[in-house]
Amino acid sequence: MAAVLDTRFDIQPFDLPLGAAITGLDLSVPLSREDFALIHRAHLDHHVLVFRDQHITPAQQVAFSRRFGPLQIHVLRQFQLPAQPEVLIISNIKENGQPLGLGDAGHFWHSDLSYKAVPSLGSMLHAQELPRDGGDTLFANQHLAWDRLPGYLRRAIDGRSAEHSYLAKYAELQKRSPWRPDLTRAQIDEVLPAVHPIVRTHPETGRRALFVSEHFTTRVIGLPDSESRALLDDLFAYSTRHDFIYRHQWQAHDMVFWDNRSVMHLAAGCPDHQRRMLYRTTIEGNAPF
Ligand code: SIN
Repeated sequence: MAAVLDTRFDIQPFDLPLGAAITGLDLSVPLSREDFALIHRAHLDHHVLVFRDQHITPAQQVAFSRRFGPLQIHVLRQFQLPAQPEVLIISNIKENGQPLGLGDAGHFWHSDLSYKAVPSLGSMLHAQELPRDGGDTLFANQHLAWDRLPGYLRRAIDGRSAEHSYLAKYAELQKRSPWRPDLTRAQIDEVLPAVHPIVRTHPETGRRALFVSEHFTTRVIGLPDSESRALLDDLFAYSTRHDFIYRHQWQAHDMVFWDNRSVMHLAAGCPDHQRRMLYRTTIEGNAPF
């Protein structure tokens, strides 16, 4: 697809099934209606936008995120940025033995907040500190996963829904990380499981996408456990095929904005002793249909 050449900024699609880089745009300044419309369209077309060289404050990130909808607050409140509760700190850094942010976010493939009745439209992640080695984020195009899904899997999921639970992998993550405290009753009540269609329709483009993930999807409704497990394993493997993926190698001051209705993502990890910190905002979407 040809790059959109604008007098103010460029949108350069990647030679991949998703993703585009935006250069020459300063997100510290509110976008005009016309520029916002171009960015909105690019987000729908490419699903992952990489804004290069953004020197923005958390408040400016919040303001830009809010142009797309209300923001969602993560259940692990201790990892909010104190002055800006809409910002979730993603970080492996510890100070005085205490983690500054959620260090194992994205350890499994997922779509943000799919465990909620109203999951996320999209998320923005702004690089603060990056490790020398690794730390990449991978994105998998779930429209392609649906479009190319083999017939036998399409028939198996036809009209079916699945349960998503925040707690699905919580105990497993808790065993190996310092980032997963025991949840209070109020926190558990905040993340009660939700049931969503396995194939969802994008509310703005009408395109269909697979909507299950190894992190949060626990079972296919109406199937015996073993059948449900086998079907989900097949879907997880298919939906993250290498030819659906864009692997983002972070550069200083990148801000990445992805569409949780179209893609899943995964944090590849980095050596523990290399500091990594990013700020995430999460925009509310719609109840999947
Ligand atoms: C996330 O899942 O939001 C975090 C992704 C990352 O740290 O690369």
